[in-house]
Amino acid sequence: MTESVTHPQSPVRVAVIGVGRMGADHAHRLAERTSGATVTVVHDADLARAETVATEISGARVATDAFSAIADPDVDAVLLASPAPAHYEQVLACLAANKPVLCEKPLTTAAATALDVVRRESALGTPLVQVGFMRRFDDEYVQLHKLIAAGDLGTPLLIHCAHRNPSVPTYFDSEMLIKDCLVHEVDATRFLLGEEVTAVTVLRPTPNPSAPAGLQDPQLVILETANGRIVDVELFVTSGRSYEVRAEVIGESGSATAGFGRRSADFLEHFVQAYDAELQSWIDAVRAGRNVDGPGAWDGYMAAAVCTAGVESLRTGQRVAVASH
Ligand SMILES: NC(=O)c1ccc[n+]([C@@H]2O[C@H](COP(=O)([O-])OP(=O)(O)OC[C@H]3O[C@@H](n4cnc5c(N)ncnc54)[C@H](O)[C@@H]3O)[C@@H](O)[C@H]2O)c1
Repeated sequence: MTESVTHPQSPVRVAVIGVGRMGADHAHRLAERTSGATVTVVHDADLARAETVATEISGARVATDAFSAIADPDVDAVLLASPAPAHYEQVLACLAANKPVLCEKPLTTAAATALDVVRRESALGTPLVQVGFMRRFDDEYVQLHKLIAAGDLGTPLLIHCAHRNPSVPTYFDSEMLIKDCLVHEVDATRFLLGEEVTAVTVLRPTPNPSAPAGLQDPQLVILETANGRIVDVELFVTSGRSYEVRAEVIGESGSATAGFGRRSADFLEHFVQAYDAELQSWIDAVRAGRNVDGPGAWDGYMAAAVCTAGVESLRTGQRVAVASH
């Protein structure tokens, strides 16, 4: 057991694990633009990378091991931005140390491990896990959510979503379009409609000739919800153009959009306001002893369950019902 943050005025001391594109950006955000936070420890499997980031952040030092970073007595809370396969063990270590953790999406790479996180957190009796679904903090998505909740669009019927990247790293494979990209649209759907996704169908159009050989890109995904709404999602990660994410909700008495006409070089630029708001609200929640403000382990699990069905649909070409517990 570690001490909780007992002095509301003292900054939350954060360890950032994984300081690649997302983690380095978050480390700077915490150190420079988040009130009430300080970065005391950084770790990366690439220690040279960790050293570089630590030298950029006043007061930060490098831990050579992720688990000692999590257990470090100078650390009150953990931001995980390591690659998805590392999340499960690192989140469990945060639970074992009783430390709040903001885990970048996806929570884990499989529904079974995500459910294990839910169960272990629940056994502790205190919420500790927030998942980095930052759309819930994006001003336009927040506004869209409010419109729907206020009934301004009448009953929502359909959502059209698009998720386009100019390019992806060489290790990106066809399943990662589901596990790394669709996962955001799944959470956005659950956030906007307030209901679960129950079935997934992944369609495989002719691949983009400019995509790396073997990459099924684009993909068109149909999500079905518990109340019969249909959400279509275009995933296109080798567009060669800008980063673009959008949603159009069609309701019985009107439609409204988020993200239309907004184009950026990459996700860091595109969602800067959302990331800023996400980390500030997380730090505020940690300081207040609530630990979580926004999507938690259950949301991470439900998104993983839908993506597990999505991966099966990508493989089989069939509609796959979401198995959840
Ligand atoms: N919320 C978002 O919009 C968003 C956007 C991009 C990435 N992400 C998520 O952030 C995470 C990191 O993505 P990225 O784009 O920064 O990847 P990245 O490859 O740029 O960075 C990952 C870093 O983690 C390091 N690493 C590898 N194994 C590690 C381990 N076991 N422990 C600690 N560090 C390790 C790597 O050396 C690298 O520096 C992923 O989970 C990804 O899905 C979220």
